[in-house]
Amino acid sequence: MDKILVHGGRRLSGSVRISGSKNSALPILAATLLTAEPCVIHCVPDLSDIHYMLQILSHLGAQVERASGTVTVQADKIKTVAPYEIVRKMRASVCVLGPLLGRHREAKVSLPGGCVIGDRPIDLHLRGFRALNAACRVEAGDVKVFADELRGSTMNLEGKQGPTVLGTDNIMMAATLAEGVTVIEGAAAEPEVVDLANFLIKMGAKIEGAGTRRISIEGVKQLHGTEHSVIPDRIEAGTFLVAAALAGTEVTLRRVNPDHLFSISNALKEAGFILEIQRDQITLRSNGGVRPLELITEPYPGFPTDMQAQMCALLNRANGVSRVTETVFPQRFMHISELKRMGASIELEGATAIIHGATELSGAPVMASDLRASAALVLAGLVAEGVTEVNRVYHIDRGYESIDEKLAGLGAHIERVKEPRPR
Ligand code: UD1
Repeated sequence: MDKILVHGGRRLSGSVRISGSKNSALPILAATLLTAEPCVIHCVPDLSDIHYMLQILSHLGAQVERASGTVTVQADKIKTVAPYEIVRKMRASVCVLGPLLGRHREAKVSLPGGCVIGDRPIDLHLRGFRALNAACRVEAGDVKVFADELRGSTMNLEGKQGPTVLGTDNIMMAATLAEGVTVIEGAAAEPEVVDLANFLIKMGAKIEGAGTRRISIEGVKQLHGTEHSVIPDRIEAGTFLVAAALAGTEVTLRRVNPDHLFSISNALKEAGFILEIQRDQITLRSNGGVRPLELITEPYPGFPTDMQAQMCALLNRANGVSRVTETVFPQRFMHISELKRMGASIELEGATAIIHGATELSGAPVMASDLRASAALVLAGLVAEGVTEVNRVYHIDRGYESIDEKLAGLGAHIERVKEPRPR
């Protein structure tokens, strides 16, 4: 298993290009199953989660071609069953359910397992499919959804922890080919949902309200092929902003959408950093120390849960006590014990991390537990004394395109150690 070694203490400067969004690209690739015609998707990041999705599409019978960042999919004749061996590696594989149900009125996909950030149920997805007149059965580890006739209706997809992103995606995709009008109340308003809606609209779908909490979809008879560029990854961008805040003098991010980064930029400004925002780039400059923050993760446009771990890494450096409360995935604090091994002073009170700054961190062998937690450990390593050894980096490779090379391009001393696979 590869590991990443971060030698702390180097200052970062220069510019970095942000890749296409993983969380947009995954459902958009799944949505290509809605048509027999070819779809061409640009700015698809080179990540292991994307490889898994392309494997799933191939397994389902689609022809998939990839040339650097452009993926062409033609799902001419497809199967409707995705078995465990194929879907187990990635939770987002659940988002092929919606397009398969929409196009073929049936789908059987192995259920995604739990993961370190919690239970990850799909009850809200099933609530939505049922509202579209589909039957849903969970048996032998598979979820099966089927309908003689898919009929639009009004539903509320909001759960105890707020709206669901992939659930909204799934229902929106199925509803494009349902009879009549579907209204999703309590919909997720994330930019990735909007990107998917824009892709579906280019395919001929009739969708209004994406980006608000109420989306309406008027079903059409069929969709056609199209071409689309995936939006920039706001979480990768946020992660590089935090890297710059921790260790940078002046760092510019290129190909970003600053509107999508509003809550992250605001938090960094509040912490004392200077941000210069242009049409599609952001420059961050340090302004002396880091001020402590009170942060609460929330659905978009609130502060994203996917940036919580990285902010915890930064707030170790703040002059005073910060409180970070997680409302989307209340158990998502696996990075705290690893940060403590590096010298951080953090207590957990329920779903709130209380971070006592400013601590000097020291490098240590640490274990990546999930995608964003791993990124937080790499970021902490940038300012730790000595060497931080981040193990299990396959978590990082799921969601960050060449993070080590991009950080090295900004001046970090970071190396990837390839380890031979055990026989
Ligand atoms: C997506 C993102 C993930 C991000 C998350 C929240 C992708 C591929 N992943 O995940 O990076 O952290 O949104 O912004 O886009 N829930 C239920 N029942 C359901 C579905 C969800 O109770 O049927 C709960 C979840 O446990 C969680 C909350 O709702 O507490 C939000 O989850 P959701 O928005 O569905 O996350 P994902 O779409 O899986």
